[in-house]
Amino acid sequence: MIFTDLETLLCEEKEEILIININRPDKLNALSEQVLNELKVVLIEIERDFSYKYKGIILTGAGDKAFIAGADIQAMDEMNAEEGKAFALLGQEVTLLMESSPIPIIACVNGFALGGGCEMAMACDFIYATEKALFGQPEVNLGLIPGFGGTQRLMRHVGVARSRELIYTGRNIKIEEAQNIGLVQKVFATKEEMINGAMETFKIIKTKSPLIISKCKDVIRSGEGLEIHKGLELEREAFRFIFTTKDKSEGVKAFLEKRTPQFQGK
Ligand code: COA
Repeated sequence: MIFTDLETLLCEEKEEILIININRPDKLNALSEQVLNELKVVLIEIERDFSYKYKGIILTGAGDKAFIAGADIQAMDEMNAEEGKAFALLGQEVTLLMESSPIPIIACVNGFALGGGCEMAMACDFIYATEKALFGQPEVNLGLIPGFGGTQRLMRHVGVARSRELIYTGRNIKIEEAQNIGLVQKVFATKEEMINGAMETFKIIKTKSPLIISKCKDVIRSGEGLEIHKGLELEREAFRFIFTTKDKSEGVKAFLEKRTPQFQGK
């Protein structure tokens, strides 16, 4: 599973972590159909890998200026309504694949995360950013609405009223505000420090069972927005499932035997 033949993504493997760079720096990494299709290929391939070759994904943008400056505006200029809908579906499919991916994904936002960029970041498990990152859903400025999940995910991240205010005004927000409203979890001075910071986080996550982490991810995602009893039902069922795994037996035994657990992802 080496992703070398992709034209718009630069994939690099480091210490069991897959670093995906959206690689269209001359277009500020705008999301063309090709970028979205290539992301789909990578995410589907990873979902099929039950060996947990990768323990995490870092999604970032090539260059210093942008994470992703949005869906490709040039491409949308020529689309009719049905093509527009298909483009939204493609973007939404990618964000859903990110959310349902069995491994955690950290967005590392270096610069502009506008429109589709903000939407991609929000579909990751959490967001790290540099001090010069800029977030926003500026679609209304172009006579558009967010189409890759922004109308649905922004409110889940920052609350309904704040989400309305941001989407109706189309204003961009700087890092202080993005962090204050809970959109960004950690801030770094440079891109390099941010990638190292994400690698440090994965260093901790990698000591756990990847199977158990994927269960946590699955239950949190599936329970989001559900009535509490339904969410707890999902949690109970997942709790039952993990009692069938070797990693649960190993983790509990290792604690009782006062040793470090050896997890296998099984
Ligand atoms: N889609 C397609 N191309 C984009 C793009 C997008 N979302 N965002 C930037 N680009 C392209 C520009 O057209 C330009 O291409 P060119 O050199 O061939 O003309 C290149 O990327 C550099 O962008 P530029 O606007 O010259 O950089 P800047 O530093 O002056 O401004 C932004 C940066 C992000 C403020 C500005 O590019 C912008 O407003 N982009 C659109 C953001 C947006 O509305 N996103 C939501 C889309 S639904």
